Amino acid sequence: MLLDHWPLTGLRVNTPRLELRLPSEEELGELADVAAGGVHAPDRMPFVVPWTDLPPAERARSVVQHHWLRRGNWTPGDWALNLCVFEDGRVVGLQTLAARDFAVLRQVSTASWLGLRHQRQGIGTEMRAAALHLAFAGLGAVDALSGALEDNPSSFAVSGKLGYKSDGAEHVNVRGRRATIRRLRLPRAGWEAHRSVSVTIAGLAPCLPLFGLPGEVASGAVSGRADVISEDVRPEGIA
Ligand SMILES: CC(C)(COP(=O)(O)OP(=O)(O)OC[C@H]1O[C@@H](n2cnc3c(N)ncnc32)[C@H](O)[C@@H]1OP(=O)(O)O)[C@@H](O)C(=O)NCCC(=O)NCCS
Repeated sequence: MLLDHWPLTGLRVNTPRLELRLPSEEELGELADVAAGGVHAPDRMPFVVPWTDLPPAERARSVVQHHWLRRGNWTPGDWALNLCVFEDGRVVGLQTLAARDFAVLRQVSTASWLGLRHQRQGIGTEMRAAALHLAFAGLGAVDALSGALEDNPSSFAVSGKLGYKSDGAEHVNVRGRRATIRRLRLPRAGWEAHRSVSVTIAGLAPCLPLFGLPGEVASGAVSGRADVISEDVRPEGIA
């Protein structure tokens, strides 16, 4: 079975409203449809790589190819988990959790997008909270990094609610113009202080080696993962 060779297909992260998991090939097509339907107003560009400038059909194909690329070039030292976000069984967007040298650095970064019609309903906050739970509770991260171009109030609002703090700035070329990324960092203590979404994780234990972690951390043996004692992780007392 594919699950034996690629256990990430069995990984599930659930919040009250959402499920995050790898998509089937048909669901990847649905994700591409969502991208083709629009991710932001055309006069804005929230991404450093301006993939949404492509015409809808090419934009959709780029979603499919990028998904295959990051599955295909996955290594335990350099991975990007592109989780499809489902609300009531419908694909609404993508939540990425990525890291390099995670076994040593214990640091992840996130990126996300939603179809335009699914934005500003709290989904972006809930899916980021799910990714952070996977990182901190599931994998034992010590830091989560984020950042956005400075004219992206939604992204900063999501990060602010989840406790991220400023971590400097950098300049990038976006559509041929100098733009500023404001970097953000969420240390483990900040995540613990701000978490407010109930999240469950299933199917993680067989995936741990793919994240660069030894299999035995499934029993909570690695420092920083003391709150992970089973595959189902639900913070106590959180609504
Ligand atoms: C960023 C994104 C994933 C957030 O998802 P979302 O579901 O819209 O986010 P939420 O509804 O959970 O929260 C958005 C917050 O931004 C706030 N917000 C939205 N537009 C705003 C504006 N123009 N000014 C100030 N705040 C704004 C909302 O009020 C909300 O905060 P609140 O819950 O405190 O009221 C989504 O907007 C998106 O896909 N954007 C396009 C792609 C993108 O920018 N990706 C990130 C690249 S770094």
